[in-house]
Amino acid sequence: MQKVKIVVFASGNGSNALNIMSFFREKDEIEVSLLISNRQDAPIVEKAKNQGVEVLVLDNEAVSDGGQLIEICQGRGIDFVILAGYLRKIPLSFVRYYDNKIINIHPSLLPKYGGKGMYGDYVHKAVLDNKETNSGITIHFVNEEFDKGEIIAQFACEVEHDETIEQLRNKIHLLEQQYFPKVVEETILKHNKSNN
Ligand code: GRF
Repeated sequence: MQKVKIVVFASGNGSNALNIMSFFREKDEIEVSLLISNRQDAPIVEKAKNQGVEVLVLDNEAVSDGGQLIEICQGRGIDFVILAGYLRKIPLSFVRYYDNKIINIHPSLLPKYGGKGMYGDYVHKAVLDNKETNSGITIHFVNEEFDKGEIIAQFACEVEHDETIEQLRNKIHLLEQQYFPKVVEETILKHNKSNN
């Protein structure tokens, strides 16, 4: 049986991208075939190369061109797209082409603290400023509206009254490491089952 091929998009440190790569390395049904970044200096670029995964660094013009992205992914037989800390908007034509096959992770309990400008520590700062007593992660499909696609799964953690941004960031990363690859796997396998 042919493996399901996924591409991971990442712009930064890439702890999630890396975790996904190692999770699927031993799996029979799914493989990470490609990593796309928009930044040559993103730490994930070298890390992914060291894992033996094909890496493409595309400049802003190239990643804004849905046609080019589709061509790249289609040419490699990519079935699913995982956004793991990818800080560029995905072109509409690409979203439509991979309808219900693009999965993003967001470091808050959406619909809270989503939308434009809400990424990384901006999210955690807003959560703390608003004295929220919990936060968490949301794994969701990407649709045409920013951070508004169908929610696949959410996992929460408590927020202490004197918590720092760094402490909250670490808690969120732990949730991401624990759940993101598993949820990706379950979602893809479920999709394939219902289409076979
Ligand atoms: C994660 O917190 C993820 O939820 C968000 O961006 C961050 C990326 O972290 N979308 P890393 O690059 O995977 O370490």
